[in-house]
Amino acid sequence: MKYDELKTLIKEARTTRRFKKDAKIEASDLKEILDLARTTSSAKNMQPIKYILVTKQQLVKQLAQSTTWAAHLKDWSQSEDEIPSAFIIMLNDQMIDGFPMFDAGASFTAISLAAKTKGLATAPLASIDKELCKKLFVIPDSYDVMIGIAVGISAEDVKLVNTDNLDTNYYRDENQTHYVPKRSLEQIIAGEY
Ligand SMILES: Cc1cc2nc3c(=O)[nH]c(=O)nc-3n(C[C@H](O)[C@H](O)[C@H](O)COP(=O)(O)O)c2cc1C
Repeated sequence: MKYDELKTLIKEARTTRRFKKDAKIEASDLKEILDLARTTSSAKNMQPIKYILVTKQQLVKQLAQSTTWAAHLKDWSQSEDEIPSAFIIMLNDQMIDGFPMFDAGASFTAISLAAKTKGLATAPLASIDKELCKKLFVIPDSYDVMIGIAVGISAEDVKLVNTDNLDTNYYRDENQTHYVPKRSLEQIIAGEY
């Protein structure tokens, strides 16, 4: 893969919150993606992250409807026609010593990029209802529900922009294009020696 192709992939793999209705994702597709995610870096190579795959429509709907989507957008909430096709729930197996936050982030990056190459969009969701997950799924007491990842086919236009001030809140324009402001290179390089 060329650098420019990787750059495009990373720039286009954006958090997505409006998905195509009735698009079916097979558990086997998610498994293929997780087979890649399981090879990402892990502190001390302990690999504490476990996953639950959710493709049953009724369960996906319950999870979607109990999530807080786009807290910055006060005049939008996800409609039933916009819910994702699947969820991946990330769990931390607390019986395994490790650095789960970092491992989960590394894994999510692989998941979102792999999904993008398969024409799928993702959203990492810390607001996934953890208690609901414990009710819906068999989860050992030693597993902590960390984050949900919505997966589906995108039905929205998302664009990256550089923020020229300190405001990093995402926003939408009158055409409902979703803009994601990122700090510029100058703003994030804290030192050069
Ligand atoms: C750890 C983490 C938790 C997040 N939780 C939520 C969430 O609960 N609801 C939501 O709508 N977006 C959530 N997001 C998505 C962020 O809002 C999104 O990453 C941010 O707006 C930047 O957009 P981008 O991912 O396209 O760069 C989360 C992202 C991360 C990394």
